[in-house]
Amino acid sequence: MKKFIDYITEEMMAAFEKAGYDKDYGKVTISNRPDLCEYQCNGAMAGAKKYKKAPLMIAEEVVGCLEGSPVFSSAQAVKPGFINLKIQEGLLAAYLHEMQKDDHLSVDLVKEPKTIILDYGGPNVAKPLHVGHLRSAIIGESIKRMGRFLGHKMIGDVHLGDWGLQMGLIITELKERQPDLVYFQEDYEGEYPKEAPFTIGELEEIYPAASARSKEDESYKEKAMAATHQLQQGNRGYRALWNHIMTVSVNDLKKNYEKLNVTFDLWKKESDAQPYIPEMVEYMKREGYAHLDNGALVVDVKEESDTKEIPPCMILKSDGASLYNTTDLATIVERMKLFHPDEIIYVVDKRQELYFTQVFRCARKTKLVEENTGLYFLGFGTMNGKDGKPFKTREGGVMRLERLLAEITDEMYKKIIENRNVKDEDARRTAEIVGLSAIKYGDLSNQASKDYVFDVDRFTSFEGDTGPYILYTIVRIKSILNRFTQDGGSLEEGQIKEAVSESEKALMLELTRFNSVVENAFEEKAPHKICGYIYDLANDFNHFYHETKILSEEKKEQKASWIHLLLLTRDVLETSIDLLGFSAPERM
Ligand code: ARG
Repeated sequence: MKKFIDYITEEMMAAFEKAGYDKDYGKVTISNRPDLCEYQCNGAMAGAKKYKKAPLMIAEEVVGCLEGSPVFSSAQAVKPGFINLKIQEGLLAAYLHEMQKDDHLSVDLVKEPKTIILDYGGPNVAKPLHVGHLRSAIIGESIKRMGRFLGHKMIGDVHLGDWGLQMGLIITELKERQPDLVYFQEDYEGEYPKEAPFTIGELEEIYPAASARSKEDESYKEKAMAATHQLQQGNRGYRALWNHIMTVSVNDLKKNYEKLNVTFDLWKKESDAQPYIPEMVEYMKREGYAHLDNGALVVDVKEESDTKEIPPCMILKSDGASLYNTTDLATIVERMKLFHPDEIIYVVDKRQELYFTQVFRCARKTKLVEENTGLYFLGFGTMNGKDGKPFKTREGGVMRLERLLAEITDEMYKKIIENRNVKDEDARRTAEIVGLSAIKYGDLSNQASKDYVFDVDRFTSFEGDTGPYILYTIVRIKSILNRFTQDGGSLEEGQIKEAVSESEKALMLELTRFNSVVENAFEEKAPHKICGYIYDLANDFNHFYHETKILSEEKKEQKASWIHLLLLTRDVLETSIDLLGFSAPERM
């Protein structure tokens, strides 16, 4: 559907032209003085110099050309040359009526859908999910949903970290503890057991123990590195162990992501890219892209315009071992081959920015991607505690995702129980839904690249710029609609009519912005813009609600109009939170 603001801008442009001015001065913006007007145009000020005329004169001439406009109910030229605009109620009502009939709530599908791979989540196998991975999952999921809503082919890939030292550490620690396991018998040729020799709980204890030990004990670390190498070389017993680690760990990860309402299309992992490495390395050498530097194979990626030093991209270490970025480059090769994406977007901690600059430049220079393949890095900031340091448990340890979810759910549960007497069972489930909104909205309402403070009290509040406030508003609308239908009202009758109050008009104008907001939020990969929008929308709704006696309205047509306005507001809010990756309960 055409954007509401386009109707306004076109009308303004026509007026500038009619008055003898360049139509480009007719740009319109939302008013920053809502007490005076709804939209404003500052084109007369901008044109004053060119036309050597007082801006107010230009503004008055343009306003003269708007006489009888079907778009504006009022257009005023004010000092020093602004044009203040108010919208015709009829036009606004008609737009929302159309929007309500549109099965995509006025948002157009893109004409040329792109195939976009979204690399997000990025957990490391066998290490518990921690809050750093939380951000990637939450932000990535939202961007995936936005892109899909607009009609792009979005492919979300979890890109598991399964190829690093953590595997060697676990194997080494297991060997220390249970040297008799069949996996460690060198001459063993039989089948390995189907059952893993550890549970997820044990695995999560083994890894940190091994990691801590390797930091103190040099020879232990060497053993772990050797084990990693042997695993990568295909040692049978280690391979079998690796398979067990993967199965146990991935099952657990899936459960955790499910709780977060995060789903991946692909469960690919670093190891999947390994087979592409030898050929890629050969190619880079053959084409003269890579050269030896102190025994290591590198590709230079610095550019003349760099203001800071961008080190070469290392492809192989001097001992021939591959690195994190070798895997990332090979993954690009794999993705191009399997999916031929138009874009690959990485949602990763912003501390990896320089690293991705190197990887992208290397991929471009060595032509692993096509000239117009987009490679984008979406770096996010750190989630901090109230002390301004990375978020930790009360005891100062790494915060496990499960624990974070449990703590928030408990907090929400307390608040919900305080509020009313829903059945216990119901309240638990509701607390989970609302708790998730608290976490996700708390995260997404900040610009992704910024650090933010995870403030449990603030995020779980029913008031202010929070997830629970948005859900509360949705539930409020649902309960009015329920009462309406229970009293015999029909949701089919009538349609949105002209606004009869300021607060109603403000709500209606806000609703027209939905399509622009969604498009812009995806364009800028900025879920916080959707949060900002629904916060305004919820405020506008609540303002309207407090001033309007909806259910006791006597005039049938008026009541039906408001009911439809409620339905549309509910749909826009629910669609928006779905784009953010959470949902609303029926009651709270
Ligand atoms: N596993 C990595 C980490 O924990 C994140 C992976 C990001 N994605 C990528 N393609 N490198 O730091």
